[in-house]
Amino acid sequence: MVEQHDDQENIGSNPDPRRPIGELIAERLSRRGLLGGAAALLAARTAGAQDTGNTPNGGPSTLSFPELRHQLAARDAVAEGHESQVVIRWGDPILAEAPDFDPRAQTAEKQARQFGYNCDYLDFHPLPKGSRSSDHGLLVVNHEYTSTSLMFPGIGAGRQARLRVTPDQARIEMAAHGGSVVEVKREGGRWGYVKDSRYNRRITLSTPMRISGPAAGDPRMRTKADPTGTRVLGMLNNCAGGNTPWGTTLTAEENTNFYFGGAAAESGPQAAHYKRYGVVKDSLYTWGRIDPRFDLDQEPNEPNRFGWIVEFDPYDPESVPVKRTALGRFKHEGATYAIGKDGRVAFYSGDDERFEYLYKFVTARPWDPRNPAANRDLLDEGTLYVAQFAAGGTMRWLPLVFGQGPLTAANGFASQADVLIEARRAADLLGATPMDRPEDVETNPATNRVYVMLTNNNRRTAEQVNPANPRARNVHGHVLELIPPGAGSREGADHSATEARWEIFIAGGKPGVDHGAQYHRATSNDGWLSCPDNCAFDSKGRIWISTDGADDAAGVADGLYAADTTGAGRALTRLFYQAPVGAEVCGPRFTPDDTTLFLAIQHPGESGNSTYDRPSTRWPDFQEGMPPRPSVIAIVKKGGGAVG
Ligand code: FEO
Ligand code: CA
Ligand code: CA
Ligand code: CA
Repeated sequence: MVEQHDDQENIGSNPDPRRPIGELIAERLSRRGLLGGAAALLAARTAGAQDTGNTPNGGPSTLSFPELRHQLAARDAVAEGHESQVVIRWGDPILAEAPDFDPRAQTAEKQARQFGYNCDYLDFHPLPKGSRSSDHGLLVVNHEYTSTSLMFPGIGAGRQARLRVTPDQARIEMAAHGGSVVEVKREGGRWGYVKDSRYNRRITLSTPMRISGPAAGDPRMRTKADPTGTRVLGMLNNCAGGNTPWGTTLTAEENTNFYFGGAAAESGPQAAHYKRYGVVKDSLYTWGRIDPRFDLDQEPNEPNRFGWIVEFDPYDPESVPVKRTALGRFKHEGATYAIGKDGRVAFYSGDDERFEYLYKFVTARPWDPRNPAANRDLLDEGTLYVAQFAAGGTMRWLPLVFGQGPLTAANGFASQADVLIEARRAADLLGATPMDRPEDVETNPATNRVYVMLTNNNRRTAEQVNPANPRARNVHGHVLELIPPGAGSREGADHSATEARWEIFIAGGKPGVDHGAQYHRATSNDGWLSCPDNCAFDSKGRIWISTDGADDAAGVADGLYAADTTGAGRALTRLFYQAPVGAEVCGPRFTPDDTTLFLAIQHPGESGNSTYDRPSTRWPDFQEGMPPRPSVIAIVKKGGGAVG
């Protein structure tokens, strides 16, 4: 998201990150056999890095694809021996009677029946349900936000475009947010979607949803339209997500502050609370003019009803999505699960903002594979924890429980609902570790180690570094590896434990050029990456990392990189796919047999002064008059076999 995510002025920042413990860093580094201090980290790590060229067999890597060369171009590129197929694009008709896409004659009604904008999270649920089919299934897709400048003719660029939006155009944008469920099939070697399938669904800002868990019904969740505080229309800025062992999808509301504005942001009774969540008087979108619920002065509680994890059944298009408040309210990047050895389920979730925190929720009860009904509301009861990292490679998970520690009336919390609605403030009081924008968090099924993408933080000063975020002005981000007790053992890991160990898996940037970059020593000139965002694991336990915020100055577009996580090729990242200019790569998702890798190519052409009329790319159609279109692609190996 260039305009929103990576325009650094639009990414919020925890205004008062705790001052960390500089002397602990040197200790941490020396434990890793390095010299003390961040400069030594650079020296020690980059001394080993060398340009080994693009070895076709990848040196000690188990990934055998010929590595791509870094590029920044109007077209995308995939490693030789593979082909990419466009599965579905913004505007493609999904539901019955949906018209073909015509960007010059678009309406909100049409858009609500067509594939939405800016695809992000991807999930693949096989068909028939319960099978392990890799040729047929349901694709679940988030539509995170809308790139106004690229959607409407003559609208111009940047902030001006959003101020020029007409009410009809704003309603189109509202209908282009949310999510899609689409039946997809591989026939004759090609992936496509099934129009008007009985499974197909659009979720928009008008979709009725239920609010459940400890904050449901709380006075701070009530509005004129919903005096019960238990029902809400739609979801906003759904970035990544996850799923559950019981077969539902989770979708994560992220930058929900972009949509609400009004004078109350500065003067109302919730002003301090709004500020902590980045809600300001002049919102990025200007929808308060069109719908009073986005106007704080008319509906001061509406923002409290966004910023949650939403659960729904992808196989039932009539199912009512549920906002699960027990998982806390913040800028959720996603929520991915790992089953602990006691059968309780942990959901890891990052709060994607500078100096914000890493969380996990652990269900109160084990899940029951034999009794689906018993799992239906498992996400309503459990404990939300926030991460506190220490030197020496240890960490603790601190519970956000009303009445415990500082989370009491003395600090303005009247209930667990308050703790969850203001999870950030509760985490501040507990002494959580301020991170470099936690994005996706995924557990490697092969080792039970947990990987945390920390995308970047250009505001961290040398005084603010901490053991798990050791670089000042961390513009390239890093990846942390958490090791829960028992990870790698036959009995399985204890994901509900309140402590774990940790390591830095990689640190982004170009080795030898960017301060502190850290990879396997054989990582090539094209294998380094910047701004890790989403990730996935193939069934061999290799990590595939997608990026958002690549190094344009170095001529590098966002892409997808793969690496072993164990063995001689550990942390040897290799470039597999490179996006068209302006796009980030989202939602890496393999089919169960690894023969297809789905990618969401989000905001192609969103760069600089690129507009509908003069876009920097017309990917993927490359037709005069057709703007760039965010699309889902499928990557397969030519001649068949596992990708990579
Ligand atoms: Fe929407 Fe954190 O990326
Ligand atoms: Ca993301
Ligand atoms: Ca992911
Ligand atoms: Ca991002």
